Amino acid sequence: MLLHNCTWAEAEQRMAKSPGIIIPIGSTEQHGPNGLIGTDAICADALAEAAGEKMDVLVAPGIPVGMAQHHMAFKGSMTVRASTLIQLIGDWVGSLAQHGLTHFYFINAHGGNIATIKSAFDEVYATAKLKGGNAGQIQCRSVNWWTGDRTTKLRQSLYGKKEGAHATPSEVSLTQFLRPDVIKNVAMAGDAGKVQSYKDADDFREKFPDGRMGSDPSIATPEDGKNILDACVEDIAEDYEKFLAGAA
Ligand code: NI
Repeated sequence: MLLHNCTWAEAEQRMAKSPGIIIPIGSTEQHGPNGLIGTDAICADALAEAAGEKMDVLVAPGIPVGMAQHHMAFKGSMTVRASTLIQLIGDWVGSLAQHGLTHFYFINAHGGNIATIKSAFDEVYATAKLKGGNAGQIQCRSVNWWTGDRTTKLRQSLYGKKEGAHATPSEVSLTQFLRPDVIKNVAMAGDAGKVQSYKDADDFREKFPDGRMGSDPSIATPEDGKNILDACVEDIAEDYEKFLAGAA
């Protein structure tokens, strides 16, 4: 159930029933020749909503812009600074913790957010400890949607090496399923070069001129997207239950 679709009385009732909430976290950045700039925000929101429906868990509004400094040499990309994202995550958790929630489960859709999310959780725990009281009960977990067992197997079987590391056929398939009205048919070379490290936005653009990192998203399909979404939701549901039970 989306928090946005609850009245305050419904939110009160649900928060009394369960101490957990799902929070999507995405990014707004270039995703290669046929990927939408909103890919990561769209995927995070949709997976959170679907998992929330399946488990009857509250889903908070997502964070749509993440740490995407390295994509800024491509038009349309947006970024927040790491320090800003740390504060946003702290305020998302802090405001919901005021209502008594203790378990915060982030569904992350962007690799560039991982390090900052980890730092944000450290900050949340440090702040909670300093406050004392029952604030120490707060637990945060972040999962990257593409890493669950079922999802990983499916991605490998569908795309193998063509999955690459950015603007992947998996994420493009997901968005094609979720937004069939804006599927982009764009010609591109089959080989997007090798996955390698980069320094900053200019270096990224030079090494990955069309925005892909070793991937071939031309093979994405909405049908694959539906199967990937289903696998992801299964993975997430299993992991969330463990998290809530204190086992993950
Ligand atoms: Ni992405």
